[in-house]
Order: sequence, then C-alpha cells, then structure tokens
Amino acid sequence: MLGARGGWQALRRCASLPRAVRLRVREALGAREPADAVRVQGWVRSVRSQKEVLFLHINDGSSLENLQVVADPSLEKRDLTFGSAVEVQGKLVKSPHKMQNMELQAETIHVVGPCDIWSFPLKMKERHPLEYVRQFPHLRCRNNTLGSLLRIRSEATAGIHSFFQDNGYVHIHTPIITSNDCEGAGELFQIETSSEAKESAEKTHFFNVPAFLTVSGQLHLEVMAGAFTHVFTFGPTFRAENSQSRRHLAEFYMVEAELSFTESLQDIMQVMEDLFKTVTSTVLSKCPRDVELFHKYIAPAQKTKDRLEQILKHKFMIISYSEAVEILKQAPQTFVFKPEWGCDLQTEHEKYLVKYCGEVPVFVVNYPYDLKPFYMRDNEDGPQHTVAAVDLLVPGVGELCGGSLREERLPFLESRLQRLGLTDAYQWYLDLRKFGSVPHGGFGMGFERYLQYILGVDNIKDVIPFPRFSHSCLL
Ligand code: 4AD
Ligand code: MG
Repeated sequence: MLGARGGWQALRRCASLPRAVRLRVREALGAREPADAVRVQGWVRSVRSQKEVLFLHINDGSSLENLQVVADPSLEKRDLTFGSAVEVQGKLVKSPHKMQNMELQAETIHVVGPCDIWSFPLKMKERHPLEYVRQFPHLRCRNNTLGSLLRIRSEATAGIHSFFQDNGYVHIHTPIITSNDCEGAGELFQIETSSEAKESAEKTHFFNVPAFLTVSGQLHLEVMAGAFTHVFTFGPTFRAENSQSRRHLAEFYMVEAELSFTESLQDIMQVMEDLFKTVTSTVLSKCPRDVELFHKYIAPAQKTKDRLEQILKHKFMIISYSEAVEILKQAPQTFVFKPEWGCDLQTEHEKYLVKYCGEVPVFVVNYPYDLKPFYMRDNEDGPQHTVAAVDLLVPGVGELCGGSLREERLPFLESRLQRLGLTDAYQWYLDLRKFGSVPHGGFGMGFERYLQYILGVDNIKDVIPFPRFSHSCLL
C-alpha cells in the first residue's frame, strides 16, 4: 500500500477515473510499496541522456528532493529540457540508489509547457547566489533555496497559529487600514484613492479622516483582550522605513499577542520564549532537509544549527536597560553612537550586548520612559524614569520582539496622551480604561526577522516570497 493517502483519496473522489493515480513528488518519494500506474507532474530540474537510459529529475515544490525518472531514450524529445513542465506516467519502483527510496519508471512523458533554456535565467545544476535570483522575483521560487524557504515559511506560519490556538488564544483579524499610528513613530504609509492623489489642493479623504496602512495591530488587540483575555494576530504590517537595510522591510509580517490579567513583564517574556522555542522545534522537525540547506550552504560559518540546538535547551537571558548601558560604557571598543542612559540602543550596541552575553537571545527590560510609545506602563521609579518595556535581542539580527505591559490606569494614560496632544484621537482607547480595565500586556515578533535568525540568512530580502519592497520592483 502506498503511503500516499492524498493521491488515493483524489482517485476515489474522481467521477471519471484518471488513467493513473496522481502523486506529488513528496508522496512518491515517501511511498512504502511499488505501484503500477502512477502519474507525477512537475518541472524538470535535470535531464541526463545516456545511450541506454534517460534520467530526469522532477520537482513540484512538495519537497527539496527531486523524484528521479528513469526512461527509455526513445522517450526523449527536443522540448524535454531543464525548466519544462511535464507529466510523467509509469511505475513507481524501489530505487537501486542509496540516496533515494523510490524512482519512477516512465512509460509516457508529456511536455505540458516547454521552457526556452537559453533565455531562462536559472541554469541546470548551478547553485545561483541569492543576490542573483533576487533579480527574478517571478522565477526564483523554482530555485532550491527559495523553495526551501517558502516551505519553511509555510510550516512556521502554521506552527505560530498552532502555538496560540493550543494555548487558548483567540485569533483576531486586525484591520490593515487604520487611522491610528500605534507606535507614534510616524513611519506611516498614508492611503488615498488615485483621484485624491491627483487633487493636491483642498484634500478630501475617502474615509473622511486620514487613513494609513497599519504599523501594528496592538491597539485593536487590546480591545479584544478586554473580552477574550488571550488574543493574537498575525498579519501584514507596513512601515515607511529604510528599505536598504538588511533587517528592515516596508511590508512585513508581525505576530502579536495580548494577554489580560497580567501584571508582570515576566509573563510576557515567557510567552515570547515559549513561542520561539515551540515554533522553532516544529520547523526543525517538520522541514529538516529544508533547514539543513540553509545551515549547510547559506550560512555554514555561523554554525546556526548547533547554536539553535543549544538555545532551545537553555533559558533566555534577561538584563535591564540600565545594566545594558553600563555594559556598553565599559566595553573595550568604541561605538559610533556613544552609549548614554536615555538614548536608543543602536544596532552596534545590540550586537555588542548579545556578544557579551555569549551570542544567545537576550531580553532587555525597563527602558527610559521618554524613549517608548505612549501605551507602555509607567514603572514610577524615580529619577531613572522607566516603563515596563521589553525587547528581545538575538545574534545577527538585533531586535526580534518588542513588547510591554500596557498602561491600564486611566489617570496615567490621560495625562500622557494630553502631553502628546493625542487625547481626542484616542478617546476610544481611554474608554477601554473606564469600562473594566485590567492589567495587561503583549508583544510583537517580526516574522521575517525570526526566519532570518533561525536560518542564518544575512539579508531580510531573502526570506520573503517577493522582493517587492525594493522601489524599482513592485511586481
Ligand atoms: O518593536 P515594534 O515596533 O513593536 C510594536 O509594533 C508593538 N506594537 C508590538 C506589540 O507589542 N504588539 O515591532 C515589533 C517587531 C520588531 O521587534 C521587529 O522584529 C519587527 O516587528 N519589525 C520589523 N521587521 C521588519 N521590517 C521592519 N521595518 C520592522 N519593524 C519592526
Ligand atoms: Mg521595537
């Protein structure tokens, strides 16, 4: 019996039975028994013609490994080339090769879509650098590295949803178009209709108020945490930030969680750490070959695999912002930005801190009040005035997560919003502190930075499906 339930079920469902059972490459490779009439569809990754036998390798995106097709040379045709789309029908048999379990003995090969190998930018058996394939956003998914990345992204997405669902969180679709600037940093993309864009004078807004692409779903999650206690969202997020950096995107995915009845930052950090460890373990166990490709060939020098395994076994470190500044001040190296209490931690500072802590993830807690957004909870701690904020820093990437306890006390929030001149805009948010307000907190994790870190990828542009952020290529 084949270990390929999908294929057999499809067969049963069909009113007019196909000639042969259609299998994905992954199913064919994983089959436990030979089968007589099998059909596989995919794209040719290699063609090797010998006197007595024709070898093809076929990939359909279901696995990193290709299915080897063995055929009589008489089945070779001119348009059966690297890159062409084919349907092969034949017998699935045990392979004599140690490296693969099964192979397909072709009886027919049908070229569904030919490929002009001379103009096709990907070449047979070449390992193309990431920078090269980035130039072909519409074709790079047919390259091994991008294929692996996209399968890992898909598993990690499912892992994130499972983590929260398994822990009793309700998934909320927070709006993409919104009128709030949650982070208050002004890194907003404003939305207007194409006719509004033309009428520069006397602006009317489609929604009657200025509208933006969301920078975070947090404030909407806070609304929902006021009824469901544990909620999460995982969606696209937009920031008008420097797209030339190797860790910033204009459009990225953020996982955010909000927990009610939570008084300690420790609880928030525990969820961040559990999320990271659970999802990473899932990805490592579900896509071992895909992850191996990155660890072995994309970032071999970083020893990401060994480091990750260690990290999964140990507790993340915690230091306060004030301790971090002291560590930086005593560092034997000079920084471009002099470390000073009250100033933001720069990339060079974050790098030094994780190195100082032994190249492991580090939580930095309790940041200066004036550095952080209005919603963070005041620690009321005297001259070194801080808020209950936390950033998770990781080697090679820097900030992976940002979170805090939220200011649930009406008078504190009112006076802060008043000082910022935001009282009118945030009346609804103040309401949440009037009607059953509870201590709560949450965090956001950048999904692409997460992938960058676990896979050891240097440039964030290489962990997204389409490099549309580059101004010249919006696809
Ligand atoms: O630290 P941030 O700005 O936190 C928030 O937006 C909170 N409102 C989240 C919350 O508490 N619910 O962003 C969270 C994370 C960062 O730590 C970073 O990993 C990622 O989002 N991030 C980016 N990733 C890629 N490109 C960018 N331009 C990013 N900006 C933030
Ligand atoms: Mg942040």
